[in-house]
Amino acid sequence: MTHILVVDDEPINHQLVSRALEPLNCRITSAEDGTSGTTLARSMKPDLIITDVVMPDISGYEVARQLRRDAQFISTPILILTAQSGLQDKLRAFEAGADDYLSKPFEPAELAARVSALLRRAELAAPAAAASPSQLARVIAVHSLRGGTGCSTLAVNIGISLSNLWGGTILLDLTMTAGQVALMLNQNLRRTWADIARFQAGEVDMDALNSVVSVHDCGLSFIAAPTFPEEGAALRGDTLAYALSLLKERHQYIVADLPHDFGDISIAALDAADIILLVGSPDMASVRAAAAALDVYKKLGYPLEKIKPVLNATFPRSSLAKEKIETALGMNFVASIPYVPDTVLEAINLGKPLVLEKTREPISALLEDFSFFLGKPEHKKSKPENPGETWERVYKRYQDKRRQA
Ligand SMILES: Nc1ncnc2c1ncn2[C@@H]1O[C@H](COP(=O)(O)OP(=O)(O)OP(=O)(O)O)[C@@H](O)[C@H]1O
Ligand SMILES: [Mg+2]
Repeated sequence: MTHILVVDDEPINHQLVSRALEPLNCRITSAEDGTSGTTLARSMKPDLIITDVVMPDISGYEVARQLRRDAQFISTPILILTAQSGLQDKLRAFEAGADDYLSKPFEPAELAARVSALLRRAELAAPAAAASPSQLARVIAVHSLRGGTGCSTLAVNIGISLSNLWGGTILLDLTMTAGQVALMLNQNLRRTWADIARFQAGEVDMDALNSVVSVHDCGLSFIAAPTFPEEGAALRGDTLAYALSLLKERHQYIVADLPHDFGDISIAALDAADIILLVGSPDMASVRAAAAALDVYKKLGYPLEKIKPVLNATFPRSSLAKEKIETALGMNFVASIPYVPDTVLEAINLGKPLVLEKTREPISALLEDFSFFLGKPEHKKSKPENPGETWERVYKRYQDKRRQA
């Protein structure tokens, strides 16, 4: 069903617009001011946006301007509906990126006609736009409601493996209270997310983001979490959502190590994710946490295909068999990582990631193969032009397995 977002601070206008659009049989969502309008647009991705101009916080022009700067709204029709009807007002609307303009009071039939014309045009342009998602980064969010299940270890090793396999990978440490990525990569903290926290959503640009990106010797880019939790607390969910939309245009893969919660930062990353790796250990508390997370994903409307549970054994023995946990969760694990205590801990303590420094270990092979599995279909289907050692290893293991089968 076509979804329209109406941004207006006057409740009566919401009623007038809804009534005028009734014949189109659309789903209509209302936002009461400009800021909640842009936030709702980012989380709901409507097919068309109608906005008033004069609102208590930001103007409708600003709403249009901010959304147009966001890659995902480049072709979403925006109609400005306003009491001001001078030529200058109309020009400002188009300058801000609006597609159409209608003065209030409006004829209901005219609004409906303009909206359906805009929707028709957007639909005709859709095939061209639909070709682009493959150029956008695949976003992989590593999440667990319980700490200590191995999220950071997984995020770091998957980030490095994807970077080694196909390049263009950035790892985002979003655990603002106790980020570990820089430590695990043995990198000194220069700039962190704290330097992005002062920006409003639409104000972040690639220059600002580039200034906080560091690059590891292996070629993996990353943005570290701040040293002091209070520095990271200021980063807003909508600012992160906007930053993600910019980063998506410039990378092949984004791997994000998420906080163990459903706060604004987590939600922004989960919304943007193509794949959620839900990590759990084989203990009761972890299974409960995974079940609770699955429940919230469902309420957030995430498709089941987006969620990939991963079992990571962070202790030697478990009374809970993998199959039992799968039955309890109603989902199968896409990967099961064994308990390898000293190796994993040493990799963290020395800042020497497994897939870089312990390539002969079976756990590294497993992590590399799993990263390949997470790759984009167009990457997996053929040999890269200059395959690296990681790709050669993955391919050799694949061939060996086929020979054995
Ligand atoms: N497969 C494994 N085998 C043995 N130990 C593991 C394994 N995976 C993780 N660990 C250990 O579990 C601990 C937590 O790992 P990690 O920091 O990756 O988890 P996390 O979910 O990011 O935790 P945090 O709550 O700190 O964010 C580390 O000490 C690590 O050595
Ligand atoms: Mg962690």
